[in-house]
Amino acid sequence: MSLNRTAQSRPAQGRTALTPTEVRAFYDAHRTVRQYVTAPDGSPIPLPDDHLDAILHAAQRAPTDATAQLYSLVRITRPELRARLVELTTNAHIATASEAFVVCADVHRVSRVLEVTGHQPGEWPAIAVHFGLGDAVMAGTNLLTAAEMLGYQGCWIGGVMNGLDGIIAALELPVGVLPFAALTIGRSAEDTPYRPRVQRPLVIHTDTYHMATDAELREAVEIMNPIAARGDRPGDWARLLNAYFGTGGSMGKREPVLRAALERQGLAPHDSEVA
Ligand SMILES: Cc1cc2nc3c(=O)[nH]c(=O)nc-3n(C[C@H](O)[C@H](O)[C@H](O)COP(=O)(O)O)c2cc1C
Repeated sequence: MSLNRTAQSRPAQGRTALTPTEVRAFYDAHRTVRQYVTAPDGSPIPLPDDHLDAILHAAQRAPTDATAQLYSLVRITRPELRARLVELTTNAHIATASEAFVVCADVHRVSRVLEVTGHQPGEWPAIAVHFGLGDAVMAGTNLLTAAEMLGYQGCWIGGVMNGLDGIIAALELPVGVLPFAALTIGRSAEDTPYRPRVQRPLVIHTDTYHMATDAELREAVEIMNPIAARGDRPGDWARLLNAYFGTGGSMGKREPVLRAALERQGLAPHDSEVA
């Protein structure tokens, strides 16, 4: 018994293990934040070099499919480019955050590695989207988590879909590179509420997929309603979801934009490639 306990608490490869309570507390402190501490003139306060270096290191330490690192992060530094991205994504905090990135799936580089080493890149656009986005999300998540370890907060920005064309052009993204989302990081200047999640059995399934009952889904809506509250107005999560995912919602409007971008970036599968 005591042997087991010793084994469980032994640090992995020199790392000091946190306790379950500490791990929960770390993730409970997560908040998406959209107002950042700025200089008096409203301009971003740069991260200290060693903090920036640590979060970029964390991004690169993410696991990666097939060793390929199918992602790129474009760090946005120029104020006029930040302003352009504010416009294109409709997310104002890109101008004020200490750091702003566009997180992209990237299969351009691996194709180039093959070319310069005398190999012929294959045709696998659907696989590129699948593993490229996976790698991009893992790198971005590592970056955000590392930033939170250092006392910053951040915000993912799916709003890149509002101006995908313009972003691809502004960042000069080659074929094979597709923005997933932007990501801002900075010191929080807001008092952000703890935002709920649906009950665990709806997202963590054991052995086989658990089909949620109507009652469980109604309970989920009750749990999630506060996330949609605005000021004194009580939240209605289903209404919020409807605005995104319902008929005529914003996701449906994004669909043709993404399809066009997949086509333009060489990432749209064609029937002949499926054989
Ligand atoms: C992929 C992704 C895209 C998101 N896009 C936006 C966005 O465009 N604008 C925004 O203000 N928040 C955005 N968010 C933040 C979510 O609204 C936020 O994570 C969610 O409300 C839960 O809040 P919490 O992270 O504070 O727990 C995005 C989050 C993710 C993961």
